[in-house]
Amino acid sequence: MNKYEQQISELMAKMNLDQMVGQLVQPERQFVTPEQVKKYHIGSVLSGGGSVPGNNTPEDWIAMNDEYWAASMEADEDHLAIPIVYGVDAIHGNSNVTGAVVFPHNIGLGAARDPDLMERIAKATAREIAVTGVEWTFAPTLAVVRNDHWGRTYESYSEDPKIVSEYAPRFIAGLQGDFGEESVIACAKHFVGDGTTVHGIDQGDAQIDEAELRRLHIPPYQAAIEAGVLTIMASLNSWNGLKCHEHRYLLTDVLKDELGFKGFIVSDWDGIDCLSEDFGKAVELGLNAGMDMFMVTEKWQEFIEHAKLLVLAGRVPRKRLEDAVRRILRVKFEFGLFDKPRPAERKLSKQTEIFGSREHREVAREAVRKSLVMLKNEETLLPLEKNARILVAGKNANNRGHQCGGFTVNWQGATSNEEIPGGQSIWEGIQSLAPGAILSENLDGNEANPDEHDVAIVVIGEMPYAEMLGDVRVPGLLQEYTTFPNSTPIPIDDTEVAEVYATNLYLHEMHPEDITTIENIRARGIPVVTVMVCGRPLVVEKELDASTAFVVAWLPGSEGHGVADVLFGDFDIQGKLSISWPKYDNENWNIGDPDYNPRFPYGFGLQYNKSKSSGKSS
Ligand code: GLC
Repeated sequence: MNKYEQQISELMAKMNLDQMVGQLVQPERQFVTPEQVKKYHIGSVLSGGGSVPGNNTPEDWIAMNDEYWAASMEADEDHLAIPIVYGVDAIHGNSNVTGAVVFPHNIGLGAARDPDLMERIAKATAREIAVTGVEWTFAPTLAVVRNDHWGRTYESYSEDPKIVSEYAPRFIAGLQGDFGEESVIACAKHFVGDGTTVHGIDQGDAQIDEAELRRLHIPPYQAAIEAGVLTIMASLNSWNGLKCHEHRYLLTDVLKDELGFKGFIVSDWDGIDCLSEDFGKAVELGLNAGMDMFMVTEKWQEFIEHAKLLVLAGRVPRKRLEDAVRRILRVKFEFGLFDKPRPAERKLSKQTEIFGSREHREVAREAVRKSLVMLKNEETLLPLEKNARILVAGKNANNRGHQCGGFTVNWQGATSNEEIPGGQSIWEGIQSLAPGAILSENLDGNEANPDEHDVAIVVIGEMPYAEMLGDVRVPGLLQEYTTFPNSTPIPIDDTEVAEVYATNLYLHEMHPEDITTIENIRARGIPVVTVMVCGRPLVVEKELDASTAFVVAWLPGSEGHGVADVLFGDFDIQGKLSISWPKYDNENWNIGDPDYNPRFPYGFGLQYNKSKSSGKSS
């Protein structure tokens, strides 16, 4: 990363204070125009989840970023040509954009135990991002999840840092590649401890000692830095009461000085807002902690004014500002951004057929197959015969949106087949392999008849959610966790806190319709294969007891037919839990715990009796 220092120095020598501070700012696209990008010398623009241009086609995205890019490169007496970099949450495919291939979320990929596959997924994802004229994705998430109540559990590969550290370099290599036409900038996130907050409260407090932080949560970032990740996103959680966004020791002393990170640190969504009631103070804390770019979605002009005053007043050392600018320019030079043509003129912008391609869908389908974990298979019911008389039921059987989970088309995900064109629901996949299968009219299995059906497949589980809206906790719990010393007050009036997904991990309480459907069919003497779509382990004792076979599909994404490939034995089932499975709510087992006694341990996963399955390896 050092071969551009001379060029960077020469460019910085020409930059005035406005131009320097402008590079640090990343507004959200709804709150900044191309004219403002030029006028304020903005360094980056982002799309939040679901913030899409026009009709959300690749062409609309290219046109949008082409305008921002052109504005940033229109040099005149006041403005230096420094290309913006556009960022999106393409965390499981370029899933904001209609028609994208949506890959399984990370928790399923962790069960696949396949680092090579990670690099292939990332390469396909990079192509589907680059084809939309975008240069940067806020991925991979390197959280080491230690509490399944967390609404972002599914964004973590595993509770085991070994898996996360093994995947990180491969995913980053797949995204960043040779920094060429088919590459994008990666972003390791969220530094640090996002998956280990008390009770899994999103943006809560990680109350662990430094030894545990270094043993479990920092290693994936070391691997990412060694792999040359160009950006890292600071986390919205606190560590022992101090927000990561103001944590100089973590951001500067550890990440930059000790681990030698040479790229730039970007804040999370308005992440400095909670550092102080005084926004100027928040800007000062964030800058002096070592943050380089600020995702300030709306108040970016206020940010610019405060930052300039802070530098002029010496409250933010000029060398701190220069360090931030140098890092941002270093990434832009390293990635070749100054040499790339404008988005509309790039090679892939003329090959939009790449987007949602069959080739990419096959990679995603393979990932689905490899991610499935079988928890139960009595009477070796699985794999099924394709000519069996099969009834398919359950709310998640025929809903591509549900099987994709959060950060898909919308921030909180999609809820229909129509929103995921090009994909296949789990039912559609079953139907393609077993044309005689029947879909329950109301998905409740009320048609079940032992004279007509040999077996039922019931697809159950969670509905889409993202971030804090996926948290599981009892109301009022926040009060207990907002009294730690020198804490940044989290709003403790529950009305201020986003509603949570459920109050505990018991599926029969979270979604009673699921056990009702399974028992409804079981009571008629028909064996049930239960397939669970979920973003985390759930307590499913009742559902397990009522099922003859039970497969966890996690959040498989758009290519639901990967589930059918395995249910019918065309491929063996091979997934192994990358996260411990609880028998009761709040057990919170993690591999390595003393007296470790989960319902299903880390690494658990049944396979087919070879004699029955002609399954190829996936
Ligand atoms: C969100 C998330 C982060 C995401 C960012 C931009 O709040 O915490 O993962 O990259 O904002 O959407």
